[in-house]
Amino acid sequence: MVGRLFVVFVALMIVSSCETLKTAKPIIPVKEYEAMIVGRLDANYVGTRNCLSACHFHDKIRQDFDASTMGVQLSRKSGMPIVDCESCHGPGSLAIEGLTPEKVEMDAKEGKQTACDYKSLIDLKNIPAPAQSLICLKCHSANATFNLHNWNASIHAISDVSCFDCHNVHIGPDLKVRPREIEAMCEKCHQQPKAEFSLPSHHPVPEKKVLCTDCHDPHSSFYEKSLRKPTVKETCTQCHGEKAGPFVYEHADNTEDCRTCHTPHGSVNMNLLNVGVPFLCLQCHPGHATDNVTASAKGAYYIRCTDCHSQIHGSDLPSTTGAGKFTF
Ligand code: HEC
Ligand code: HEC
Ligand code: HEC
Ligand code: HEC
Ligand code: HEC
Ligand code: HEC
Ligand code: HEC
Ligand code: HEC
Ligand code: HEC
Repeated sequence: MVGRLFVVFVALMIVSSCETLKTAKPIIPVKEYEAMIVGRLDANYVGTRNCLSACHFHDKIRQDFDASTMGVQLSRKSGMPIVDCESCHGPGSLAIEGLTPEKVEMDAKEGKQTACDYKSLIDLKNIPAPAQSLICLKCHSANATFNLHNWNASIHAISDVSCFDCHNVHIGPDLKVRPREIEAMCEKCHQQPKAEFSLPSHHPVPEKKVLCTDCHDPHSSFYEKSLRKPTVKETCTQCHGEKAGPFVYEHADNTEDCRTCHTPHGSVNMNLLNVGVPFLCLQCHPGHATDNVTASAKGAYYIRCTDCHSQIHGSDLPSTTGAGKFTF
């Protein structure tokens, strides 16, 4: 019995010390910080209920938001930061000042749509990109949202792309970008890949079988071109595992970087090749023929290299002479 009480006591101690660890101690309280952005220190938080009770203009926004992953956190029991309209739009007391049910009724009689004084809220659309992202990052710190670990050093952050550019908070309950929409979303800024994916040989991104985000992390990574994996080869062999090797007969160190022969997005040549066969091979090898062939067959030696050298990525089997020539 005493032992059990002791366990409970220790557990309580741990829980209570965690509570103090959890309490944030910001330099400026968030409220004042946001009121400063608005330019009015007399603004106060009023809560979603007060914000929206008088007029139902934003009911659709509210419904969508309540159904979203962030909206579900509204319960204090979740232990998550409370997310409501004012978490992003800033304190709303000034916006709803004078917004009484009577006024709404009067406006309705005159056929008018009642508007709150939304100019007193944070002007989300027009603040600079880093400030926009900061609205999100006050909760989505690198610790809270692991994917955002590299955000501050990312090419997107540095190039003034903000969270808002990709995440359309009020488009519906989906806060994440839906897989089907990713390509169009990226291509609104990246025209070059769009052109490449329309070439005859391309990764099936327009066909929605491969996503830009299979290879790139939109929030950036430690690796070149924000790739998800440390090297291009590892990026490719996620899906093309059979090309990873190691092989008994390697094609020198060519396959260490698939870009030696391939381009990732799209190409005019078959198989996403930088240069078509045989010219690809002839960049590094002379053409050849063997003696015992007819003159007409000889041509093949100079054209269709991979008809015979079919295991061009590496092979475990020797050719007929016992050497590795990628014929088997
Ligand atoms: C996670 C942050 C966030 C939360 C929470 C949020 N909003 Fe927004 N809201 C935004 C952003 C960002 C924009 C600006 C979007 C843009 O760039 O067009 C916006 C725009 C709006 C607009 C203008 C829409 C338009 O088409 O111009 C309204 C109205 C609005 N929000 C109402 C609400 C209401 C009501 C709630 C609470 C139910 C809410 N918002 C909660 C981030 C948020
Ligand atoms: C007041 C705190 C807070 C703010 C501000 C906030 N979020 Fe969130 N957000 C949360 C919480 C809590 C969750 C749910 C837990 C989770 O998935 O991390 C969440 C979830 C999300 C998700 C969905 C994650 C999933 O797995 O489905 C996205 C996307 C998101 N937020 C984007 C944003 C963007 C973009 C902004 C800025 C416009 C923003 N958030 C502002 C707290 C916040
Ligand atoms: C270049 C576009 C882009 C930008 C900019 C961007 N995101 Fe995302 N985000 C995405 C896509 C696409 C997904 C879908 C998941 C995936 O494939 O990684 C996503 C997923 C998420 C998720 C879901 C949780 C997770 O880890 O999978 C959260 C939360 C999130 N983003 C928050 C943010 C915040 C906060 C910012 C700004 C600091 C931001 N994003 C900036 C494109 C973007
Ligand atoms: C709002 C515009 C915008 C959107 C949307 C956007 N990007 Fe970008 N992205 C940029 C800018 C600006 C740069 C900086 C370099 C440049 O100009 O190409 C960049 C850089 C990059 C780079 C790095 C290029 C390099 O040289 O290192 C990659 C990779 C990239 N984006 C992928 C994506 C992907 C994948 C998506 C969709 C999930 C996406 N971007 C969505 C604007 C955008
Ligand atoms: C199969 C993997 C893969 C897919 C899918 C993919 N990329 Fe790439 N992307 C790469 C690799 C690898 C590079 C580096 C190419 C290089 O260095 O020549 C790259 C380079 C880039 C660059 C930088 C280009 C430059 O010239 O610096 C941008 C921007 C980019 N990709 C955007 C996108 C967008 C947008 C999509 C989707 C429409 C996409 N990528 C889909 C693998 C991929
Ligand atoms: C997310 C999975 C995925 C990743 C990562 C990936 N691929 Fe692919 N790759 C595919 C799919 C799917 C196809 C289409 C297969 C089909 O149509 O039968 C394909 C096709 C190809 C083709 C044949 C194209 C053609 O025209 O027939 C080549 C070559 C190729 N990939 C090389 C690469 C290289 C190089 C990389 C790394 C930059 C890479 N892949 C990364 C999934 C992937
Ligand atoms: C020395 C040049 C070279 C290098 C390096 C190379 N490839 Fe290839 N790859 C080719 C050629 C040539 C073809 C077309 C084969 C044919 O015509 O039969 C091809 C075809 C492919 C195909 C489609 C056909 C198939 O066999 O599935 C994939 C997928 C592929 N390569 C992936 C990769 C990956 C992943 C890497 C990097 C690990 C890589 N390649 C490196 C030359 C190369
Ligand atoms: C970027 C240069 C490069 C390209 C492109 C290239 N190779 Fe190679 N290849 C090499 C190197 C380097 C070796 C190793 C040479 C050695 O060990 O003597 C090699 C080895 C070979 C061998 C084995 C030679 C031997 O003596 O064992 C064959 C066969 C071969 N390549 C065929 C091809 C074919 C076919 C293509 C086109 C699909 C091609 N290579 C494209 C550089 C290249
Ligand atoms: C009709 C089949 C065939 C075609 C087509 C062919 N090769 Fe070969 N290749 C061979 C054979 C067989 C060998 C000798 C293999 C052995 O020694 O076991 C060989 C050997 C090689 C070697 C090794 C050099 C040496 O002297 O051992 C290289 C490099 C090579 N081929 C490159 C190419 C290139 C590049 C092309 C296209 C321009 C090509 N091959 C087209 C069948 C072919």
